[in-house]
Amino acid sequence: MSLFSEASTPGLSPVDYERKLAARDKTIDVLKRRIAQEARHSHATPFAILEQNVGLEKVVARKTMELENERHELEKALAELRLAQIQLLQAQKMESIGQLAAGIAHEINTPTQYVSDNVGFIKGATDSLLKLLNAALALADVARDQMADDPAMAEFDTMLKRTKIDFLRRQIPGALDESLEGLEHIARIVAAMKEFSHPSKNVKEMLDVRDVINTTVTVARNEWKYVAELETHIADNLPQLPCLRDMVGQAILNLVVNAAHAIADTLQEGVKEKGRIVISALQNGEYVEIRIQDDGSGIPAAIRDRIFDPFFTTKAVGKGTGQGLAIVYSTVVDKHNGKIRCESEEGVGSTFILQFPLNCRTEDEPACK
Ligand SMILES: Nc1ncnc2c1ncn2[C@@H]1O[C@H](COP(=O)(O)OP(=O)(O)OP(=O)(O)O)[C@@H](O)[C@H]1O
Ligand SMILES: [Mg+2]
Repeated sequence: MSLFSEASTPGLSPVDYERKLAARDKTIDVLKRRIAQEARHSHATPFAILEQNVGLEKVVARKTMELENERHELEKALAELRLAQIQLLQAQKMESIGQLAAGIAHEINTPTQYVSDNVGFIKGATDSLLKLLNAALALADVARDQMADDPAMAEFDTMLKRTKIDFLRRQIPGALDESLEGLEHIARIVAAMKEFSHPSKNVKEMLDVRDVINTTVTVARNEWKYVAELETHIADNLPQLPCLRDMVGQAILNLVVNAAHAIADTLQEGVKEKGRIVISALQNGEYVEIRIQDDGSGIPAAIRDRIFDPFFTTKAVGKGTGQGLAIVYSTVVDKHNGKIRCESEEGVGSTFILQFPLNCRTEDEPACK
């Protein structure tokens, strides 16, 4: 599906298309009414009227079919135009979010770095101080018998009790390790935000799919962490993929968010506290295949063939607008000449399977677009 089919007229807006469709409908109505009138007011013999009617019916049937075809083409063009508009808006939104995220990432990065350095230093210093403290405590044990009546010894023991020294010796190394882990986590999120908010190029680049998936999973963490465990299985020998990084990242993000929503619908206290999302990537012949699997609600058979339609949603206002899968479809099929399919069972879960061809060229004239 190209964004503008042959039938679409460049420069027409959705309103123009809607007006054209309304005009077509009116023409069909007028023709039908005219036949009815002719039949009522004619003074010809019944047989002549019948013959005339048959002729007219044929003309109308032909015209109606032509108009219906035209209407269908216009509707298709209108849907494509709407999708193009959504994508443009989405791209603009992503760009401004991206700029904001890059700025924040930079601001967080600098203090995170020096806090990490300082905590690392304190951890090293604490190890040495603890060794020294251990030696001092051993020495105090020896001195205690000889200095039993010495007030200095009594004061030292009181201080030892007050500072809860054993508790501190046990807890401090763990607290520092946890702090360093937390700081590493912040650094990972900041790096992912920077990566994600990189200004988008509209030319395909050779990409490591593993990086795109890991970055997306980190960025989307808040969407899934309360409802699901998320696993990634990425084949070791996965070749680099020529693709539009931002769009592929955005597609995976949309699918992960959908998976999280579908799982959230099935959670029940004491019965199912968390679901499972599995993202896998492997080479399948000439394609890189990415699967996003969830154990959420599944998609009822009755709506399965509408989920990729723009604006189709079963979610409440404010939770979904029905654009996610339309964008995923357009990214995979239109932008990368790939394939997409969904396997789903109600009450069991869904798997979206995306196949991106490896033979796209990355130059200005990519083979797959
Ligand atoms: N993993 C899934 N499990 C169950 N149903 C799904 C899943 N993914 C999509 N759907 C169904 O397909 C519909 C369309 O999905 P789509 O992502 O296009 O829109 P949305 O999630 O409703 O809104 P948006 O993505 O614009 O916020 C959803 O409303 C939902 O009913
Ligand atoms: Mg969605």
